[in-house]
Amino acid sequence: MDIGVFIPIGNNGWLISKTSPQYKPSYDLNLEVVQKAESYGFEFALSMIKLRGFGGESEFWDYNLESFTLMAGLAAATSKIKLYASAAVLTMPPAFAARMATTVDSISHGRFGVNLVSGWAKDEYAQMDIWPGDIHFSRRYRYSEEYVRVMQELWTSGQSDFKGEFFTMNDCRLLPMPSTHIPIVTAGQSHTGIEFAAKFADYNFVLGSGVNTPTAHADGVYELVEAAKATGRDVGSYVLFMVIADETDEIAQAKWKDYNDGIDMDAIAWMGFQASSDTGDEKSTAKSIVAPEGAVNMNMGTIVGSYETCARLLDEAAGVEGTKGIMLVFDDFIIGMDDFGTRIQPLMKSREGVVTDLAAV
Ligand SMILES: Cc1cc2nc3c(=O)[nH]c(=O)nc-3n(C[C@H](O)[C@H](O)[C@H](O)COP(=O)(O)O)c2cc1C
Repeated sequence: MDIGVFIPIGNNGWLISKTSPQYKPSYDLNLEVVQKAESYGFEFALSMIKLRGFGGESEFWDYNLESFTLMAGLAAATSKIKLYASAAVLTMPPAFAARMATTVDSISHGRFGVNLVSGWAKDEYAQMDIWPGDIHFSRRYRYSEEYVRVMQELWTSGQSDFKGEFFTMNDCRLLPMPSTHIPIVTAGQSHTGIEFAAKFADYNFVLGSGVNTPTAHADGVYELVEAAKATGRDVGSYVLFMVIADETDEIAQAKWKDYNDGIDMDAIAWMGFQASSDTGDEKSTAKSIVAPEGAVNMNMGTIVGSYETCARLLDEAAGVEGTKGIMLVFDDFIIGMDDFGTRIQPLMKSREGVVTDLAAV
């Protein structure tokens, strides 16, 4: 069972709150997080691409670094951990994204993969006048399919003459080719998104939901398993969890309550407004992140409790058949990484092998 970290490339991580830790993203912060991840035996780190924040008093995500360039820097400063950058398909031609990925593959010596983002927040793109119109909502996976096919042709043959509805390659070249297979990850929750993952991705992220309900992602995993049977491909599910841990359940729950009490409703309103124009189905990301009960952290699955409670619940999550890994976010990434590495992971049965290997070093 893999463990990853969704690194804080945007300010305040994933808590849309005025009372959670307030911080800005920097290379140094993300380097510290990724170096800790590497030292605790994490298998991967991923950064998102977010081009416009939600505002409000907490200025939520108004500060964001760029994903590929951040991962390139982190690739040069690490040696073991797998790194994923996010490519928003509307922002750069696929042949260019493929070349950037090949470059980071070279810097990282084969430790790099790409998270494909089809796009749900129109104003991220409209602010640069690159939004193709709301028709994009219904055709974004057709667009993404062509995008990934161009990238994969270039990566595997160094050349593409792809002719599609959106992209036309005219003897397009890419040399050097990557040193190894560059994995594609996706994070679709909609039925179409999961079908896309089954066709093209190596992993798909599932959101989970609720507080201390560690098996809530089972349906999403099951749907992918079934879709992958139809395509005959090996596609793993990774599930995203926020972990809020402390010495006792009571202290951790009090922190979680405090963050909820400080919810930044103006920023949430912006998120709701952006999500409302997305025409995805009932399971889509845009529909699920805005549900009012968990809007403070976009309704992601949340684990709150003592170190023992967190370890037990994460083991339960790992036990859902088909779960290949868990990606973590924290309220405070520096304290959270150390708490996970020194207090939680050593108690997790699903990480026994990794903990033994770390002790042997
Ligand atoms: C782990 C994870 C990473 C994501 N990364 C990004 C990202 O970098 N940028 C972005 O705009 N959306 C990101 N998203 C959201 C989805 O990728 C995106 O909204 C997707 O297009 C929605 O597909 P759906 O409607 O099929 O659920 C992420 C979601 C998850 C769970």
